[in-house]
Amino acid sequence: MPDALKLLLTRRTIPANRLGEPGPNDEQVRSLIAAASRVPDHGKLAPWRFILYAGADRLAAGNQLFDLWKSRNPQADEKLLALVHERLVASPVVIAVVCHTTIHPKIPEWEQVLSAAASTMNLMLAAHAMGFAAQWLTDWYSYDQEALDLLGVREGEKVVGFIHVGTPMEPPSDRPRPSFEEVVTVWKAD
Ligand SMILES: Cc1cc2nc3c(=O)[nH]c(=O)nc-3n(C[C@H](O)[C@H](O)[C@H](O)COP(=O)(O)O)c2cc1C
Repeated sequence: MPDALKLLLTRRTIPANRLGEPGPNDEQVRSLIAAASRVPDHGKLAPWRFILYAGADRLAAGNQLFDLWKSRNPQADEKLLALVHERLVASPVVIAVVCHTTIHPKIPEWEQVLSAAASTMNLMLAAHAMGFAAQWLTDWYSYDQEALDLLGVREGEKVVGFIHVGTPMEPPSDRPRPSFEEVVTVWKAD
């Protein structure tokens, strides 16, 4: 089987809190972004961009997010607080993919969103190709205006996903995948 196909057939998510060091270095992050920018894009609108959270700044973002959540949920117990805190600080590198669509006479908004999703998937696959694993998360902060401001998401942008990237701390276990019969309809002329 060609290596590239094997790669597609073996990718699977590793949860963010099971992604350890090393994460991608600066050069590898550039390759991830190059792969994520090489996607079908009707009208060449590039309706997506990336926000990188790495190193000490990622920790600061995670801490600020945690403080915001805590201020909203003062009754939360320690266990839940620890889970929430982990969100942005668990894995070495987090890359947000955000989508900004425009009203265009020929390119429906839907197609711009699809290009952003394709970009995100390329990012996931490129991480896998480099020997890293990744998780695509949205979570509460993708839909909370105060959190979005804190995380550098601009007005008019929507989060496609926060892609956590790192080295798997455990071997991947798979989950059942839909069979050919479940997901394919063979169209017949009569
Ligand atoms: C748009 C999008 C958002 C997601 N957000 C979350 C999330 O917030 N929390 C979560 O546990 N999984 C989330 N997932 C699911 C995981 O990323 C992943 O798909 C799931 O764990 C199964 O992994 P696999 O099929 O890639 O192996 C999201 C997936 C997508 C496509």
